[in-house]
Amino acid sequence: IYKDASEASKAVAQEIAKIIRHKNALGKPAVLGLATGSTPKKVYAELIRLHKTEGLSFENVITFNLDEYYPMQPDAVQSYHRFMKEQLFNHINIVPENCHIPTGTLPLEKLSIFCKEYEAQIEELGGLDIQILGIGRNGHIGFNEPGSLVNSRTRLMTLDITTRMDAAGDFGSLVKVPRRAVTMGVKSIMEAKRVVLLAFGEHKAKVIKEAIEGPVSEKIPASYLQGHQNVRFILDEASASELS
Ligand code: F6R
Repeated sequence: IYKDASEASKAVAQEIAKIIRHKNALGKPAVLGLATGSTPKKVYAELIRLHKTEGLSFENVITFNLDEYYPMQPDAVQSYHRFMKEQLFNHINIVPENCHIPTGTLPLEKLSIFCKEYEAQIEELGGLDIQILGIGRNGHIGFNEPGSLVNSRTRLMTLDITTRMDAAGDFGSLVKVPRRAVTMGVKSIMEAKRVVLLAFGEHKAKVIKEAIEGPVSEKIPASYLQGHQNVRFILDEASASELS
């Protein structure tokens, strides 16, 4: 539990930098699982700062994002492809071909092959060294909405009404929010060697309590993380305020 989101985000950025340096010292690429949304923005800002002022190199970094709305053009304002470019990729020395984000444009009949290949690419690299997560007010991680099973893999998911309502501001109105998204599965996330879930603000306090102190249940997909061997929840005082 950190004083505020800035302190917490700096600590997470330091952990990511350490992994990058450690893997690179071994002559291997660091494989990062990344999230979008408002929560990780300060982590990305700090990584950019570390790149610009401390020479942190992303030349040997490979990234996999959790999710993308479906359908969604990559240059649309709400696209997670665009988000990642604006918040991180455009400001560091990462190789564009090393940045993977679920498709928002492939036709439906090609999706299941895409999803299998997404998983296979991660596996071929030896898995994710770290997965960064936010959490939805309904307990989702990635876009694994309530009801998602512990063995779920990268797939097309129907978005929960809570998720669509929370995104309505970004899209101008609820009807404009896509009904579906392509997301990494719970199992894909659980296989990461390290998982760091960030949650900031009072509006996350209730779901944080449920995820950490409640029963492990498909009703709160983040509760599955209780079974991960190397997970940390990074909170500010507001999101931790309902923990006992
Ligand atoms: C984003 C993602 C989502 C968000 C969650 C919280 O890639 O997978 O699970 O992390 O909806 O969103 P914010 O951070 O905007 O509160």
